[in-house]
Amino acid sequence: MKQLQKVMNEIGISIKNNTVLEVACGCAEFSIEASKYAKEVFCIDLDNTRLLDEAGSISNIKFSIMNASNMSFENNSFDTVVIYNAIGHLDNIFPELIDECIRVLKENGILYIISSWKIDKLAIEEKLVKILNEKQIKFNIFEKNGIMYLSV
Ligand SMILES: C[S@@+](CC[C@H](N)C(=O)[O-])C[C@H]1O[C@@H](n2cnc3c(N)ncnc32)[C@H](O)[C@@H]1O
Repeated sequence: MKQLQKVMNEIGISIKNNTVLEVACGCAEFSIEASKYAKEVFCIDLDNTRLLDEAGSISNIKFSIMNASNMSFENNSFDTVVIYNAIGHLDNIFPELIDECIRVLKENGILYIISSWKIDKLAIEEKLVKILNEKQIKFNIFEKNGIMYLSV
């Protein structure tokens, strides 16, 4: 089974008909898969150099060039915010990143940080968890089929 199918087996129900934001989307493979479940998928990255053409042809995906540490979205905009296989590349902005992700989430929304890469898992375990604890933000973390899921 493809990795993204495993991810959707875990979170597909929770994003069904929702408004989702993927942060640091890169090629946007997560957004493309999520668009089959969600009502709307917004995705952002610093640039569009890796973005798959397919993402531009899917009507419920909207890509924007945007810095995750200073997003232009309104407060309480999204049901779900996802960072997929990218957290290890964002470790220089963790405090602002977490604040921004929570700011743009609706009150009962969920932030998922999902990673199969070793570099990401280390960044979560060695750095992100400490920052969440310092900010007194409650989170759950588990690993299944080699994929780590941290949810806030
Ligand atoms: C590992 S790559 C892409 C991962 C993506 N999930 C994928 O599957 O292609 C990490 C991405 O983080 C983006 N990035 C790094 N810093 C960022 C920031 N401050 N705001 C938004 N995106 C950022 C990079 O441009 C890069 O596309």
